[in-house]
Amino acid sequence: MSEEIEGRILIVDDNESNLEIMAMYIESEFDNDTLLGSSAVDAIELIKENSNIIIVISDYYMPGGDGGMLYTWLKENKPDVPFLLVCGENQDTVEKLPELQGLFSRGDFSPLVSKPFKKEELIEKMKMVMSKELTKVIEGYKRISIDRFLTFNKCFVGAHLKVGPKKMLKVVNKDDEISEELIYNIVVKGVKYLYIEEEEYEAFMGSAMEEVMEKLACRDAEESEKVRLQMNSVESIHEGLRYVGMGQKAIELAQGVVDSTLNTIKSNKKISTILKSILKKDNYIYELSLLTCYISTAIANETEWATTETYKKLSYASLMQDVSLKSNDLAKICKKSDIGFKKLSSEDQKTVISHPVKSLEIVEKLGEVSSDVRNIIWEHHERPRGDGFPRGLDRKSIGTLSCIFILAHEFSHRLLTESINHETLENIHNEFERNYSGGNFKKPYDALRKAFQR
Ligand SMILES: [Fe+2]
Repeated sequence: MSEEIEGRILIVDDNESNLEIMAMYIESEFDNDTLLGSSAVDAIELIKENSNIIIVISDYYMPGGDGGMLYTWLKENKPDVPFLLVCGENQDTVEKLPELQGLFSRGDFSPLVSKPFKKEELIEKMKMVMSKELTKVIEGYKRISIDRFLTFNKCFVGAHLKVGPKKMLKVVNKDDEISEELIYNIVVKGVKYLYIEEEEYEAFMGSAMEEVMEKLACRDAEESEKVRLQMNSVESIHEGLRYVGMGQKAIELAQGVVDSTLNTIKSNKKISTILKSILKKDNYIYELSLLTCYISTAIANETEWATTETYKKLSYASLMQDVSLKSNDLAKICKKSDIGFKKLSSEDQKTVISHPVKSLEIVEKLGEVSSDVRNIIWEHHERPRGDGFPRGLDRKSIGTLSCIFILAHEFSHRLLTESINHETLENIHNEFERNYSGGNFKKPYDALRKAFQR
């Protein structure tokens, strides 16, 4: 028989309900303590504070440090601690992520549990990544933390205290409520867990899961709200870009480009006055202009045209693209096939279709414009399938820099108008793959994939 070990199990997920479910699954099977973290940064702190972590089980996508960051840290600082990844992606997708290099090097099994997962799968994978056995709960019982028992015990199952290595003491009878006195005594003694007989555990787990799921449904709605890109501070833009897969170096580069463009514009009174009139904080045109700046820089950075000159052109065009538009609603129309376009009055449709040319006219009045900037502004609503405007160009006739810009424009628009979660992000990428992987878009599209680590 292999040696059983003591030590703590660290579970990391930004979604509290997922965390709760994983913790319940694991706690019910093993007598080891569990620690819960909500991001890589959080988890690293916990590992530094607790020397006896024996396994890390982590989600991948988490604001405030993802699973890749955690794995990289672990590999460098605690190479003996096994790592199990629990995420919504399949192995083909995650094994390409540079931060996870080395995780899938063992050919005999995969340290990945794909969400949604079953309890048995999680437990089985945990046993596989660990070279030693975890401490099993006494046969015939399942363990539950006292907090969770009090929260979820709606079906009044009985509960036991563990009073010796193999000895249980019944403290709550089935159908009885746990008394306040008992709770008090348990808390004073520092007891953290109760034990439920296996036959009753299923009923308990059923009602607990229902509640957690309910909580999950509410939280999910809140969380997708949360990741909708908030543009009210540089930190939140960075956080949003990190969430959609942009690397730290690319973010820093883009920030530098944005800063220097804004500085140049500030020093030109004419341009800054015009921009001030349309770029009012917290509106769509402002957010789109700024975000296109970041994203087009990040894409260009992965191409053969990665020069300061290119970044300047893209960022200037980003800020100027909609300078002729006053309405945020009209600016949100990307192409003629958008439902929103069809619903507009014919006058508004004309305004939408002519705004690239009108913006260009304004920009030309402000000073000399390079032909690249000219083309980008003129073509920023052209689309590969020919359903763009004003000219209805297609993937073979749109200029390369414009292609970079259009990808950035469309991606920014989607990030700003949709609630971004793993599923919607996946949908966006799939649509991009269908629409943008050919013609003059091919290289810019490959660059976008690189920039956003797909
Ligand atoms: Fe526009």
